Amino acid sequence: MTEIPAGLRIFGFGGHARSVADVALASGIRQLCFADANARDGESFQGFPIVRAFASVLPEGWACFPAAGDNRQRQAQVEAITAQDWPIATVIAPSATVGVGTVIGAGTFIGHHAHVGPMAVVGKGCILNTGSIVEHDCVVGQFTHVSVNTVLAGASRLGDFVFAGTGSTVIDKCSVCDDVILGAGTVVVKPITQSGTYAGVPARQVR
Ligand SMILES: CC(C)(COP(=O)(O)OP(=O)(O)OC[C@H]1O[C@@H](n2cnc3c(N)ncnc32)[C@H](O)[C@@H]1OP(=O)(O)O)[C@@H](O)C(=O)NCCC(=O)NCCS
Repeated sequence: MTEIPAGLRIFGFGGHARSVADVALASGIRQLCFADANARDGESFQGFPIVRAFASVLPEGWACFPAAGDNRQRQAQVEAITAQDWPIATVIAPSATVGVGTVIGAGTFIGHHAHVGPMAVVGKGCILNTGSIVEHDCVVGQFTHVSVNTVLAGASRLGDFVFAGTGSTVIDKCSVCDDVILGAGTVVVKPITQSGTYAGVPARQVR
């Protein structure tokens, strides 16, 4: 968290939203509120309310965060927040390491023990999940999800709306275009230039 907001409005209440809450609390944010269209009356998480929709006035000093696990839903959340002119936080775990000269987009989540190397550029609304490594000079587009323990080696590139499954690897200087799904454990050794689903070692298109 570059500046610690007084509280965080978390959009969504799925599994990823609970990870966001966990990292936000570890980062020193004291107050949280979730919005989820399916929330039950009086529902809460760790004492923090889950409402069906946020009130139109954002409390002083609060910021917002898009917490859908799905890339397109997260984009829609960012658009909804932007339409209200509310500030969008960047949530970075205290145990994560972020190198010099990096650029991290608004609404991006960096989980516990993740690493972003020097000069990497990460777009808005991304998830760099627990233990993932985005090495030096990497470029990650917007609304892309780098799952738990995924490794992007130095100067590799992921496009927009990519889902890199858990434990996947992209070797150094290799690129993956927009709208690609990488299966768990996939190793990308040659550029992927067509959207689709890829899996295996080395990566092959499966859908
Ligand atoms: C790649 C993936 C998205 C494919 O799901 P799907 O579209 O439902 O496709 P299927 O399960 O029908 O698999 C299609 C083929 O790819 C193979 N395949 C699927 N996932 C694979 C993987 N991770 N590694 C190797 N092969 C895989 C299947 O065995 C199947 O092969 P076949 O046609 O020879 O039988 C999914 O298997 C996967 O790995 N998801 C990642 C989940 C994850 O990492 N979540 C992290 C949350 S933080």
